[in-house]
Formats: sequence, structure tokens, C-alpha cells
Amino acid sequence: MNVLIPALLAAAAIAAYPAAAAAQSPRGSPDDEDMSAVYATPVEVAEGKRIAEETCARCHGANGVSATKGVPHLAGQRAAYLHLQLRAYRQSARVQGAMTGIVRYLSDDALVKVAAYYASLEPPRAAPPAPKGTAAKPDAVQAGKAAAAACGGCHGETGVSAMPGTPSLVALDPKYFIGAMQAYKSGQRANDMMKGMAAGVSESDVSNIALFYALQKPARAKTPAAGNAAAGKKAASACGACHGDSGVSGNPATPSLAGQDAQYLAAAVEEYKSGARKDESMKGPASELNERAIKDIAAYYASQQPQPLNVRRPLTVSEWTDRCDRCHGPGGNSTDPMIPRLAAQRIDWLEQVLHAYRTGTRKSTAMSAMSALLSEDDVKQLAAHYARQNARAVTYIVLPPAGKKRDK
Ligand code: HEC
Ligand code: HEC
Ligand code: HEC
Ligand code: HEC
Repeated sequence: MNVLIPALLAAAAIAAYPAAAAAQSPRGSPDDEDMSAVYATPVEVAEGKRIAEETCARCHGANGVSATKGVPHLAGQRAAYLHLQLRAYRQSARVQGAMTGIVRYLSDDALVKVAAYYASLEPPRAAPPAPKGTAAKPDAVQAGKAAAAACGGCHGETGVSAMPGTPSLVALDPKYFIGAMQAYKSGQRANDMMKGMAAGVSESDVSNIALFYALQKPARAKTPAAGNAAAGKKAASACGACHGDSGVSGNPATPSLAGQDAQYLAAAVEEYKSGARKDESMKGPASELNERAIKDIAAYYASQQPQPLNVRRPLTVSEWTDRCDRCHGPGGNSTDPMIPRLAAQRIDWLEQVLHAYRTGTRKSTAMSAMSALLSEDDVKQLAAHYARQNARAVTYIVLPPAGKKRDK
């Protein structure tokens, strides 16, 4: 097997591409078939050009630079990758009306040539940089911290309450937290003060704040508890099925009670009991408790240690691109002939493809697991990032097998 050395070249040096790549043309084995577009000769590239002008240019643009939404640039894309995708369309491993119809009438030989031709072209120009003033968005946790400044006076800076009657917010699952804010806003959960607070916070800030508190170090509320914790432990036996044995819930919809402010906890149970706070799951358990038992249970849960949530800090865009670049090359300039260059690709295309991987309409083992973790915002920002990177052409220089002299 020959060794391929990728060389990132300036556009002017691209002319050297076919000559260097064509030192040998070792087609035959399946491995070599994958690489056949990389080894194409200048004559084959010229034939590829003819096919491209006749068949592909009307959609992919005169020089492989697409002017059409939803149609990717092909110019300067990695040759083996292009060939692989063309075969995927032909074998219906990848399905798309326009492309499937076109490749059906082309031989594999033609696919090799047209892939080699597009790979030899000068890549498109990068999209212009983001307009001044549209600074990169701060990451969600930082944004949450900033927005939570309005809440810390009552709930404690890191969500650990020091004010009796005010709940701790640390160790609350974001899903429950967001639901609670919506319930205050809509009035379903009656509290005029929190209704006012909730009305002043945007939806995205609510989820950022929820994330910020969820990632803080859990600690018990710094407030006194009036009841008898030992008696409360017995009385709480009926609560553990939903809230967890020591008040650490495993269910995002059921709040943890461990370490919660006792006065708030007792008041909440009283409200379920009176019907002032309505919830089907809580109506029954609350109605069976007298005032003494409620105080004791509150003291018991307040004495329990809250636990960290299974919530991960989302990656920032630059942490994501570090990961993407491991396969797609620095700045999305892939040096692997099988992996596409992302730099200077159309922004709408990058977004569309990331969605397709995420929903499974386009299948790839390398891409589907990773794209499932991307938020809508990540997709937008990653697409914009790569569309704005300068694209570089790659020449694969074929070296002779080790120990052998190069054929002349
Ligand atoms: C009728 C318009 C049309 C024509 C003609 C056409 N294409 Fe396409 N091509 C598309 C569209 C649309 C896509 C995106 C398809 C998808 O979503 O999978 C595409 C995708 C591709 C891709 C996948 C690129 C990537 O990065 O995933 C390759 C490779 C390709 N075309 C090569 C060609 C070649 C070579 C020809 C000529 C033989 C050609 N196309 C002709 C419309 C066209
Ligand atoms: C003036 C004090 C005060 C401020 C400021 C305040 N809260 Fe509250 N918050 C409370 C009190 C008191 C309650 C309990 C209300 C009840 O009984 O339903 C509460 C309840 C909550 C709950 C429900 C907790 C649970 O366990 O169900 C959430 C969530 C919450 N607040 C979030 C916020 C956020 C986010 C902010 C800032 C945008 C904020 N609060 C600002 C006092 C405050
Ligand atoms: C069938 C499941 C279930 C059982 C049993 C149960 N709970 Fe709950 N509990 C819930 C759910 C679900 C919520 C959230 C309801 C809401 O959004 O208002 C909740 C909410 C609460 C809250 C409000 C917490 C907060 O942060 O606002 C308290 C306090 C509470 N439960 C105490 C108890 C006690 C004490 C018991 C035992 C006597 C108990 N629960 C039994 C499901 C249950
Ligand atoms: C483990 C290696 C690997 C990692 C990491 C990786 N990719 Fe990919 N990527 C691939 C491979 C291989 C393909 C070609 C898959 C196919 O055949 O559909 C691909 C294809 C793509 C495509 C399609 C390009 C086109 O023109 O059709 C996009 C867009 C893309 N990746 C973006 C990303 C982004 C954004 C990240 C980081 C969040 C990422 N990739 C991380 C290996 C990887």
C-alpha cells in the first residue's frame, strides 16, 4: 500500500496536483478503489471536467461553486470523499431525488473522473466575517449566572437559601425549574411576587438560569428547621417512592427535597393540602398529614444532603470545533481524503446536513452520535463558523512503498 502525504497548498500550486497524485495508479483492491479518485491522471481529470460541465454545473455552479440554496459547493472538496458520496447516492445508501437520478446514468469510471475534477478546482471563498457588534454569544452558564443576579438576593448567590420561607434552587432539575417558572408566569402556581419575577425573564434566560443553578455545588439551606427530624424520617416513608429515599429524586419532574429550606417545604405541603397549589401526585400524600407531621418531615428533609444532578455543562462553540477539527482538520480543512472539508462550505448546506445527521435522514456512524448532542443554537453557530473559515486545497502526494525504489 502506498503512503499518502497530504500537503496543504496555496491555490497557485494546485496545478501540480494531478501530476503528483498520478505517480502510480494502483487500482484493484477494495482499499484502492476508495482512493481511485485521488490517483486520477490529468487526462482523467479533463474527462471529468467535460462530464461536470454537461451534467453537474447547472446545479453545482460553473466552477463547483454553488449559487443555489441547498446545493453544496464541490470545488476543492476531498476527492475520495466525493467519490464515496457519489457511490452512496448510486447505491441508495444516501437518497436525494436530484442526485439519485443523475448518478444512475454514470459509470463508476465517470464518477471517479468527475470527483477528481471537482477536487482539483480552487476552493470557494469563505463567507464574510460576522458583522461588527454581533459578538459571539456568551455561553449558557455565564448567561445564566448574569441573569440570576436578580434572584440571588432571596435565593442565595449559588441558589442555597439563607432566608427562611424561600426555597433553595440548587439541586433542582432544570426541567422542574423551567416548569415552575412557567407555572408562576401563567398563574397556575399562585404567587404574585414570583409571577412578577417570572414575567421579567425571557424564555432562554430561564433555561440558562436553571442550568446555572443545576451546576452549582449542592449544599443544605442555611436556615433553621423547627420540627423533629427523627420523627419526620418515619412519617416520610410514603414520600420516598417519588422523591427518593433521602429526598434525592431521580425523576426530573419530581423535585428533590434533600437540604430544602424547612419552612418553604412545610408551606408547600400545606398548600397542596389546602388545594392552593394543585398537583395530582401531591394531593393524596399531603392530605394525610397533620401540622406536626408536616413540620417533622420538613425538618427531616432539610437535614439531608442534596446531591449533584446528572446535568452536563454544554460545550461552547470553540470546545465543539476542537472536537470537529480532530477529524475535519484545522479550521475544517480536512487532510484525510475520506473526510469532507467544511471550511468555506455554504452555510445553509452545513446547517441542513447537521440536521439530517441528527434526525437520521443522512446516516454516518462518525456523525450521528455527535450531532445528536448539538442544540439548535450549536448547529447555527458551527455552520457559521465553518462557512467563514478560509478553505485550502489539498494535494495528496503518493510515495512509493517503503524499501522500494520509485518507478520512473
Ligand atoms: C438537479 C440539480 C443537481 C445536479 C444536476 C447535480 N447535483 Fe449534486 N447535489 C444536488 C443537491 C440538491 C445535493 C444535496 C443532496 C442531499 O441533500 O443529499 C447534491 C449533492 C451532491 C454531492 C454531495 C456533497 C456533499 O458534500 O455531501 C455530491 C458529491 C454531488 N452532488 C455531486 C454531483 C455531481 C458530480 C454531479 C454531476 C454528475 C451532480 N452532483 C449533479 C443537486 C444536483
Ligand atoms: C424577593 C425574593 C425573591 C426573588 C428576588 C426571587 N424569588 Fe424565586 N421565590 C421566592 C419565594 C418566596 C418563593 C416561594 C414561592 C411559593 O411559595 O410558590 C420562590 C420560588 C421560586 C421557585 C420555585 C422553587 C421550587 O422549589 O418549586 C423558582 C424556580 C424560583 N423562585 C426562581 C426564581 C428566579 C429564577 C428568580 C430571579 C429571576 C427569583 N426566583 C427571584 C422569592 C424570590
Ligand atoms: C406519587 C408521587 C409523589 C409522592 C408519593 C409524593 N410526592 Fe411530593 N411531589 C411530587 C411531584 C410530581 C411534585 C411536583 C409537583 C409540582 O410541580 O407542584 C411534588 C412536589 C412536592 C413538594 C414541592 C417541592 C418544591 O420544591 O416546591 C413538596 C414539599 C413535596 N412534594 C413533599 C412531599 C411529601 C412530604 C411527600 C410524602 C408525604 C410527598 N411529597 C409524596 C410527587 C410525589
Ligand atoms: C470521528 C470523526 C468526526 C468528527 C469528530 C466529526 N466529523 Fe463530521 N464527518 C465525519 C465523516 C467521516 C463525514 C462523512 C460522513 C458521510 O459519509 O456522510 C463527516 C461529514 C460531515 C459533514 C457533511 C459535509 C458535507 O459537505 O456533506 C458535516 C457538515 C460535518 N461532518 C460537520 C461536523 C461537525 C460540525 C463536527 C463537530 C461537531 C463534526 N463534523 C465532527 C467525521 C467526523
